[in-house]
Amino acid sequence: MEQAEIGLIGLGVMGGNLALNIAEKGHRIAVFNRTVEKTHEFMASAGALAERIVPCETIEDFVAAIRPPRPIIIMIKAGEPVDQQMTALMPHLSAGDIMIDAGNANFRDTRARFERVSGTGLTFIGMGVSGGEEGARHGPSIMVGGTPESYARVEKVLTSIAARFDNEPCCAWLGTDGAGHFVKTIHNGIEYADMQMIAEIYGILRDGLGKSAPEIARIFQAWNKGRLNSYLIEITGTVLAAHDPLTGKPMADIILDKAGQKGTGKWSVIEAQNMGVPATAIEAAVAARSLSSQKAERELAEALFGAEPVSFPMADGPALNKDLELALFAAKIGAYAQGFAVMAEASREFNWSLPMPAIARIWRAGCIIRSQFLDEITSAFTAAPDAANLILTPAFAEMVKETLPSLRRVVSAATAAGLPVPALASALTWFEGYRRARGTANVIQAQRDFFGAHGFERVDGVDRPHGPWGSGASQQ
Ligand code: 6PG
Repeated sequence: MEQAEIGLIGLGVMGGNLALNIAEKGHRIAVFNRTVEKTHEFMASAGALAERIVPCETIEDFVAAIRPPRPIIIMIKAGEPVDQQMTALMPHLSAGDIMIDAGNANFRDTRARFERVSGTGLTFIGMGVSGGEEGARHGPSIMVGGTPESYARVEKVLTSIAARFDNEPCCAWLGTDGAGHFVKTIHNGIEYADMQMIAEIYGILRDGLGKSAPEIARIFQAWNKGRLNSYLIEITGTVLAAHDPLTGKPMADIILDKAGQKGTGKWSVIEAQNMGVPATAIEAAVAARSLSSQKAERELAEALFGAEPVSFPMADGPALNKDLELALFAAKIGAYAQGFAVMAEASREFNWSLPMPAIARIWRAGCIIRSQFLDEITSAFTAAPDAANLILTPAFAEMVKETLPSLRRVVSAATAAGLPVPALASALTWFEGYRRARGTANVIQAQRDFFGAHGFERVDGVDRPHGPWGSGASQQ
């Protein structure tokens, strides 16, 4: 029998849809699942595509069904299960075979897995896949980390199943070892910020202006036709317009205000902090999710402090609507600028040479943060590849100048009304700090020197490392 071009382990929602996508694009694929029943169910649901899918019940059959060097996608729960799957698989593989972890792995685990296979003749790919169930089935965004040789073996399959923007595949090799999973992690960090900022604007419209979910839905639907056009704005409009079949109420009003998190947002923040890169909008979004989970404590606090009546200081109307739209846009620029800055620093730290224009390019379609805006980022980084930050590119500098006043007005008004807007405010204060050549850390330097004799640099370059602080100060 003709051998399969590729193999896939793990027929859960993401794995199953990825396998169907691969088969649909004309590739023969071998599949394996820990429980055989799932493989049977999957084959029964595959319809005509089943003729290109080779279901396997043992690892031996599965490996034998794939053309060497064998690329094997592992699409299972991230973490320990991946290591266990590798342990089960490795004795059956031959030199050149490629294990591809397509889950949301921590890039540090991915780097450890590269170490694990080094010297065995086997190789590894850490592959970020974004787009959820629908993306996996019809075109995800694919971020690849590994050797260029192993990417060459899978490039044809991967580019054929990826989403397309202007007929270009949203799939790219981004660097060695953990590069793909790192970029996916930052994608998710930005996803957290994007979602949180949208939720904050929803909060202003709901609690500050007293609008109903369907009214807010219409606002997001209108914004989706403008510069905010994106998948997340689109689905926000859709979910806010939906009604609960049980009660007839807007769906959003009967969903508990608690959101979970699986870790990728937190990893973005940890890595940003490790490298000393400010990613304040992403941090605020992760913390806001944690606060959302403290439902019982928030109820106690509301009973204690009272739910103060909100008096939103800006009048409702087209001007405010425009300000909210532009404020969201400005804050979004901040979150993306921070996310790209984290990737730029990681690129230096881990010797990846991450291609910023290519990253923006493969995020334009397929992934959760896909948007028109990413096309503008692609152009900005292509025109100014050496820009230290997205907002220093001429195109984005203009956009910031235009939209920052709206962000200031909206954050001020929300703050005056007692409404929490942590991600919008964090993006704003990052801008305000970033655009100021003379900040306030001179005082921090002086304080550190006072209590710790840390010394400081002077503006005039005169060499006088310690201050004249007098008695009590710790001086050398
Ligand atoms: C994607 C998503 C997807 C998922 C993440 C985030 O790009 O398709 O990012 O990977 O949404 O797991 O999940 P949490 O919000 O649960 O952390």
